[in-house]
Amino acid sequence: MLFPSLILFITLLIREVISDPNMEELEGTWSSKSNTVFTGPGFYDPVDELLIEPDLPGISYSFTKDGHYEEALYRVEGNPKNHSCPVASITYQHGTYEILSNGSVVLTPIAVDGRQLLSDPCNSDDPTKSKYTRYVQPTYFKAYRVYVNNYHGRYALEIYQFDGSKMQPLYLAYKPPLMLPTTALNPTDQNSETDSSLNEKRQRIKRSLENQYRTNAVKQVYNENFDKYWWISVGCLGLASTYFFIFMK
Ligand SMILES: *[C@@H]1O[C@H](CO)[C@@H](O)[C@H](O)[C@H]1NC(C)=O
Ligand SMILES: *[C@@H]1O[C@H](CO)[C@@H](O)[C@H](O)[C@H]1NC(C)=O
Repeated sequence: MLFPSLILFITLLIREVISDPNMEELEGTWSSKSNTVFTGPGFYDPVDELLIEPDLPGISYSFTKDGHYEEALYRVEGNPKNHSCPVASITYQHGTYEILSNGSVVLTPIAVDGRQLLSDPCNSDDPTKSKYTRYVQPTYFKAYRVYVNNYHGRYALEIYQFDGSKMQPLYLAYKPPLMLPTTALNPTDQNSETDSSLNEKRQRIKRSLENQYRTNAVKQVYNENFDKYWWISVGCLGLASTYFFIFMK
């Protein structure tokens, strides 16, 4: 009876080490095809509370394997009535996420930290000005799927939104993810801030950035020549992990 108990022991050990296989799978920075939008310090500067406009529209999500997420969206929507009147928005949010037992995902933002820059030239008093506001939008994904894209040999993330519609596919860009600190960046209310407390806050965020975000993000490099080899090894890994999961059930 030594063998079964050894297996049990190893299984328990592995379960201890590997937290949640679904979160491990989601871990990373995912970016849409334009490859211009990434979460992290290149998109939002929390010290000066600046949103930085990417070159082209796109979206990016980052997830850590311990339940934090960050969202970076640069969206431009055409106005069908008047093509010279598109509505553009840049949105930053971060917070925690949870994968429910039925596979849905709930994103809960840190309310004080979300920001949006909205440009709607035909519906504002001063068309040259964008509107900068706080932004809080809890988000619900009905389902998601991580798979290897056959054509590029890249990890892809497919998200089904709350209404079941498919979001544009996202591709793995960094793992571990490229993110700002996952704790609240702006814990005080801006209205009640004096200049000195604002300065203090900036110093604090700066320090926390210097300490925390010495980033350990690793860029995922896709070399065409290695694609095939890489794909085959992923195939093997896939088999290995399938075996692994059957084994764990
Ligand atoms: C479209 O919007 C521009 C800018 O506000 C305006 O000058 C133009 O008259 C509008 N065109 C139409 C067809 O409404
Ligand atoms: C998953 O569960 C949540 C909470 O009970 C529910 O709101 C959601 O509709 C469920 N999702 C699916 C795809 O059934």
